[in-house]
Amino acid sequence: MKFFLDTANIDEIKACASFGFLDGVTTNPSLMAREGIANQRNRILEICSITDGPVSAEVLATDTEGMIEEAQSLFEIAGNVAVKIPLTMPGLAATRALADSGKAVNLTLVFSPLQALLAAKAGAAFVSPFVGRLDDVGEDGMQLVEDIVSIYTNYAFETEVIVASIRSPQHVLRAALAGVDICTVPFKVIEQLAQHPLTDKGLAAFLEDHRKASAKSTPPSQH
Ligand code: E4P
Repeated sequence: MKFFLDTANIDEIKACASFGFLDGVTTNPSLMAREGIANQRNRILEICSITDGPVSAEVLATDTEGMIEEAQSLFEIAGNVAVKIPLTMPGLAATRALADSGKAVNLTLVFSPLQALLAAKAGAAFVSPFVGRLDDVGEDGMQLVEDIVSIYTNYAFETEVIVASIRSPQHVLRAALAGVDICTVPFKVIEQLAQHPLTDKGLAAFLEDHRKASAKSTPPSQH
């Protein structure tokens, strides 16, 4: 399973790269706004200088022609840009046109298995089901992911599933068990994945035992 970082924050991206498992980055207009960024071009370029993996940049246009034009401009930023397009009827048409010219589209804001089926039929390189937002309204976001994985397996679709809107380690665990291609994870959740109270407790005990053994074996003073 590949790990993408779900952020537009450069410090978080550099930190994740230093751990050696940064496979890509996803952004969206809200994540850009959180960084105080209105024009995303420079930030996308900076992110692409840190990772060779796919970097998703989202279009703001809502009509097919506008989406295609904006996407083409975003693809010029760097060779590893993947353009995020919302799963609407105009978005599907834009995806088909861009996929036909060999471009990587990430169809986003996906909330049903049938939307994901259409994403694959339209030639999207990636599909992004939003699990946390479904959980927020009382549905089971991970059931959606499991359904998409079944459908894609049934028909050997090549579209990669990116589990998005991740809120907790449980989402990552269920995604891995479902065999998804990618999880895009907020930095806070990456930190949670690494933490376990028994690790902290065990480390403290090891260090304390070593301190006691060192104190006992210290030779008496020569004075
Ligand atoms: C990533 O592709 C999505 O835009 C992101 O995960 C959405 O997360 P949110 O539902 O926490 O805003």
